[in-house]
Amino acid sequence: MQAMQVRPLTPKFGAEILGVDLSQPISDELFGEIEKVFNDSGVVLFRGQNITEDQHIDFSHRFGPLEIHVRKDALMRHRPEIFVVSNVSENGKPIGSVDAGQFWHTDLSYKKVPSRGSLLLAREVPMRDGKVLGDTMFCSTIAAFEALPADLKQKLSGLSAVHHYEKGYNRDRPSGRRKPLTPEQLAALPDVIHPIVRKHPYTGKPCLFVNEGYVTEIVGLPKAESDSLLEQLFQHCLSEEFIYRHNWRVGDLLMWDNCSTQHCAVGDYDAGLRRRMDRTTLTGAAAA
Ligand SMILES: [Fe+2]
Repeated sequence: MQAMQVRPLTPKFGAEILGVDLSQPISDELFGEIEKVFNDSGVVLFRGQNITEDQHIDFSHRFGPLEIHVRKDALMRHRPEIFVVSNVSENGKPIGSVDAGQFWHTDLSYKKVPSRGSLLLAREVPMRDGKVLGDTMFCSTIAAFEALPADLKQKLSGLSAVHHYEKGYNRDRPSGRRKPLTPEQLAALPDVIHPIVRKHPYTGKPCLFVNEGYVTEIVGLPKAESDSLLEQLFQHCLSEEFIYRHNWRVGDLLMWDNCSTQHCAVGDYDAGLRRRMDRTTLTGAAAA
């Protein structure tokens, strides 16, 4: 059996797992240890994973069912469980979602049952002058909630917010490389309402579940008050003490929890520098 070691990525959240080769069989016992680290840490990094697409899908499946994203244009042909995030085009056509996620969000928060987590595998990373560009930043929504003043925590605990898919989708559209959503895609993803303080489905810890990408308003508040409170919360999440910034290497498999973290891709690389990431997305297994 493989012997696993764990080391923290930041003082507050995130862990690197060492000593595990995901191309080799993972026993139920080892998987249980990995799942526990994932639930407790929010972000888990495995470096140097030389795995196939099927191995990526199979490992992801150990956590439960996988999402098939509504954006069929970004799914890998023959393996729709893989959502491709890439600026690469082949035969004049993008192979995945271009410039995706360059704003703070959690994946699929706009679904009735939000995603449990995502597993992103770095296949190609953009480099300039020996430095890898295109980092991804993560925020701990547990640490962010914990740091709020007690009266605000109490106020937020009784409030819910609207999550709207098109808001985030359209934020990336100025690149000019995205088509408008079709009526069918919009109909498949009506607005949903989630509590602002969401109990983590696996650990029970309170998470600040509003993200700049998809949340449009707080239910029951006048617009000006809703806008102001949301902006305050979005800014609060950007404090350095809640952030982990990941500098990618080819072969990194990084997985994150879509309740206890938010993330934002850094678009600091030119279109000519190839970047290709493969993502699987875990279906939420428990009620929001
Ligand atoms: Fe994302």
